[in-house]
Amino acid sequence: MRLVLLGPPGAGKGTQAREISQRLAIPHISTGDMFREAIKGGTPLGRQAEAYIKDGRLVPDEVTIGLVQERLARPDCRDGFLLDGFPRTVAQAEALDAWLAGRQEGLDAVIDIEVPRDALLERLTGRRVCRQCGATYHVRYNPPAVEGKCDICGQDLVQRADDTEATVSRRLDVYTGQTAPLINYYRQRSLLKEIDGRQDIPAVTLAIGRALGRDWQ
Ligand code: AP5
Ligand code: MG
Ligand code: ZN
Repeated sequence: MRLVLLGPPGAGKGTQAREISQRLAIPHISTGDMFREAIKGGTPLGRQAEAYIKDGRLVPDEVTIGLVQERLARPDCRDGFLLDGFPRTVAQAEALDAWLAGRQEGLDAVIDIEVPRDALLERLTGRRVCRQCGATYHVRYNPPAVEGKCDICGQDLVQRADDTEATVSRRLDVYTGQTAPLINYYRQRSLLKEIDGRQDIPAVTLAIGRALGRDWQ
């Protein structure tokens, strides 16, 4: 399946993507994770993206579109993929459509996880991520077994640099201005599946499964 996960910052895209990509055996492609890796590695891409991400603004379309096209051209994406955090602008959505059409392909569904703004603030300020493997936790909603340590690799948990209150509020405004128009874009193409993201994490996974016609337990 060729899928896109849409939703505001903190909606649970990354959390759900890990689960769904495993269940469907398709690669999870997160542009945010790719940028953070590049920043960590000090690559030219990382140096280009860093200031934008720190400020909560979008990395320019030319950079992001090229990065995703390169990733989607790899053989592991031939039978499907799950995009998380891309597209985020109408220009990115159009570029994705055109690129897929050039390969006689198209998206199967766009899953829109919806969560009200006050809940997003709490989710983002309480989020902790593993500095080693990137696993995501929440101090209240998804705590690790041992406080401050990753369940998977035991490394320290840290806050993401863009999860400060000021940057979070900029990210939410950028979402409303630049990304929310994609809801109509995909609704008009009959691809949109709207999911209530206020439910707990396993319930959201099951709702996504139902929207995709799968009876996940
Ligand atoms: P990106 O990394 O994509 O960040 P984002 O879209 O702001 O989304 P988040 O990763 O913050 O949230 P999420 O929806 O994944 O939620 P999560 O599962 O972690 O992008 C970062 C930056 O990179 C952008 O600001 C931009 O600068 C740049 N960028 C990326 N893509 C780009 C693009 N295409 N174009 C241009 N620039 C781009 O969950 C959040 C928290 O809530 C966690 O603590 C989790 O444990 C908890 N949680 C999850 N689900 C639930 C639940 N159901 N109930 C309770 N708690 C929950
Ligand atoms: Mg994420
Ligand atoms: Zn870890």
